[in-house]
Amino acid sequence: MKIFCGSTSKELTSDIIRYLNNELDQTIILGDLKIDYFSDGEILPMFNESIRDKDIFFVQSTISSNSIMETLLVIDASKRAGCKSFTLVAPFQGYSRQDKTDHLRSSIGSKMLADILEKVGMSKIITIDLHASSIQGFFNIPVIHLNGNKIFIEYILENKIEDLTILAPDQGAVKKTYDFMKAFPDATFAMINKRRVKPNEIHSMELVGDVRGRNVVIIDDMIDTGGTLLKATDLIINSGANTVRAIATHGIFSGAGFENIEKSKLLEVLVSDTIPVNNIDKIPSKIKYVSCAKFLSKVILSIRNNGSINDVNGSLHN
Ligand code: R5P
Repeated sequence: MKIFCGSTSKELTSDIIRYLNNELDQTIILGDLKIDYFSDGEILPMFNESIRDKDIFFVQSTISSNSIMETLLVIDASKRAGCKSFTLVAPFQGYSRQDKTDHLRSSIGSKMLADILEKVGMSKIITIDLHASSIQGFFNIPVIHLNGNKIFIEYILENKIEDLTILAPDQGAVKKTYDFMKAFPDATFAMINKRRVKPNEIHSMELVGDVRGRNVVIIDDMIDTGGTLLKATDLIINSGANTVRAIATHGIFSGAGFENIEKSKLLEVLVSDTIPVNNIDKIPSKIKYVSCAKFLSKVILSIRNNGSINDVNGSLHN
């Protein structure tokens, strides 16, 4: 087994390796992969060590067009260098919001990405909370689809929140919210009926359920511009809730993401480190990062030992 990292996931990969080394009797060191650039921005990856007949784990969240291109070129280089298998560990897999044609004559980016990754030679993908779990079916190779709730449950259990209501901010989040509730049998459920007219723009929101006097935790797969959370929190507070927190696996925070969280009435927002943080000094203090490194290291270890992933992951997406 050899572990390499892409440009988007350097810190996360070091953390994963640290956890792996705590569990293993051999020491894993980060593989030597150089990502070079031509002056026009073209990407040139080069393995500076032999990978012949090796099982490659490449950690890279495909958060941008550049990181996708980098990943494709790394797969190409590794196949040409004779690796045995190539597993992409993409904690966040981009384009998963395009899982069907929601708009007239639009693309289905997640299907296209699955096709290209497979075509260049990826053997397996490990990812957390695809926006739609049916995206697994776009691949004809094994997809290890991890349940992001596992990353946060311990934190919420430790913080013992009374009068807890767990809330899905839209129809798509209901299944994930129900799964989260399994760990909190006394919590009540609520949801929001959200309608959008175009990406990142919300048309209307209606609350379904009673949140009066409750401490609400919103469960979502991602925060992008923070628009959903900002509006949802106002609605929940105006409907009589005491406090509102949010948990989302992927913190994208594009556009006014940080500003929207800052000005919202949210008490606390938990996200994982599936997406690297660029402007550390701009992160609002109410955003807390909970690392997915230990979770991913357990999954990688199970694969290495030919063990069951279900023991680590639970059953949400199965
Ligand atoms: C929507 O279906 C997703 O689960 C998120 O709620 C959404 O992508 C968040 O986007 P934003 O933060 O821009 O409202």
